[in-house]
Amino acid sequence: MSGFKKNFLWGSAIAANQVEGAWDINGKGPSTADMFTSGSQKDPRIFTEKVENDKYYPSHDGVDFYHHYKEDIKLAAEEGLKAFRFSINWTRIFPTGMEGKPNEEGLKFYDKVLDELIKYKIEPIVTISHFEIPYGLVKELNGWASRRTIDYFVNYCESIFDRYQNKVKYWLTFNEINNSTTVAGPLISLGLLQGYRGTVFDYHCDMQTRLQALHHQLVASAKVVILAHNKYPQFKMGNMVAFIPYYPYTSDPKDVLEAEKQMNILDWYVSDVQVKGSYPYFAKKYWNDNNIKLNITPKDEEILKDGTVDFYSLSYYMSMCAGLQKDVDTSAGNFIDGMSNPYLKASDWGWQLDPDGLRYSLNQIYSRYQIPIMVVENGLGAIDKVTEDGKIHDTYRIDYLRSHIKAMREAVDDGVDLIGYTSWSFIDLVSASTGEMSKRYGLVYIDKQDNGKGTFNRLKKDSYFWYQNVIKSNGKNMY
Ligand code: BG6
Repeated sequence: MSGFKKNFLWGSAIAANQVEGAWDINGKGPSTADMFTSGSQKDPRIFTEKVENDKYYPSHDGVDFYHHYKEDIKLAAEEGLKAFRFSINWTRIFPTGMEGKPNEEGLKFYDKVLDELIKYKIEPIVTISHFEIPYGLVKELNGWASRRTIDYFVNYCESIFDRYQNKVKYWLTFNEINNSTTVAGPLISLGLLQGYRGTVFDYHCDMQTRLQALHHQLVASAKVVILAHNKYPQFKMGNMVAFIPYYPYTSDPKDVLEAEKQMNILDWYVSDVQVKGSYPYFAKKYWNDNNIKLNITPKDEEILKDGTVDFYSLSYYMSMCAGLQKDVDTSAGNFIDGMSNPYLKASDWGWQLDPDGLRYSLNQIYSRYQIPIMVVENGLGAIDKVTEDGKIHDTYRIDYLRSHIKAMREAVDDGVDLIGYTSWSFIDLVSASTGEMSKRYGLVYIDKQDNGKGTFNRLKKDSYFWYQNVIKSNGKNMY
């Protein structure tokens, strides 16, 4: 047993639109995330074209990280975190996405966040775009449907690279870029929302439009990697994929082929582009079978080839089954549904709990690419209760994290080059899919409820203290 590397990046993560609040302060413009109302498992979030007075938009106040960042980063330091993953909100820097110059107030905010992290010797891991695109770009260009968005994005990246060149080493281009192959992608990350008002479930976007927009994002990501490598060779550039392994529902070879097909399109389609520099061999058949004709120029191909990432990062929450059977139970997942696995239990939100799936995924990824890997999201969304004396006994979350960290250790012992882990999430935050606060992921509880009410006070959960020991012992002490 070798165990985790000596300098393993033990961390935790958050995303701007789910925590910051202060949505229209100091020059910040609206992003797509600011136009999503709150919702629940039963009542889907609604995207509105304008902010409507009778609706609650949870990103507008988030958990007020904007004003609590010092307190939160102090908690991160006491926790012993070696790394902290957060995202920069594009619209703090370029309010409509199209300005000639960046917004100084926005840049200053992230300077302060970074300085605070550096003060405590915590390594920042920055996601450049986490589920928000300037609403200005949606109105003007229908988001990533347009090639012109690539240049605006590159300009945004150059501004933050120049500004934070001495403060940030690890960058992730797009959060869960592969979710654009699923029905939720066009809403949540591609911004194909021009003129749209309605719920996630009413929204229909054909695969042709989706994959063309995703292609623009992949080119943008590669361009930014090239820019970083040329200008700031000290940077380490990563992708970020919502990795979901598919198991065959039975040992029927047809189910095996079906599971492979699902993984090809969900997991490997984007990963191969970002790591190997070109679309995988099976993409052509997929495009032909689905009557998709992408506009990929020779210049695009060159960019994709040159802009490959230095490390692979993923979120991991659950696994799925695939097969040809009908009338099989389905289970919910991270923006997708799939066949349930009779061997697994699920969370209160129906996500199947499968730590072995993480070991399997890490081995699959490493055998395909052989580059360093970081798990940058993994955690349990659950309802937490505060006891009368202000404690949160979240043993269920500890069990979840323990089993997944053990699975990572097994993968390391298998030989996988794992360099870091940032649990999801450090503080409680607004759920991306449902807009709820009650689906809590944090190691730190925040007193804010689904309707936006609360004191915003921070409380350490039992999982906070448990993870502190894991970090202190470099993953040896998990009890
Ligand atoms: C990932 C996202 O999809 O999963 C996060 O990167 C999100 O932003 C997390 O919060 C958990 O999903 P949800 O929908 O429960 O918040």
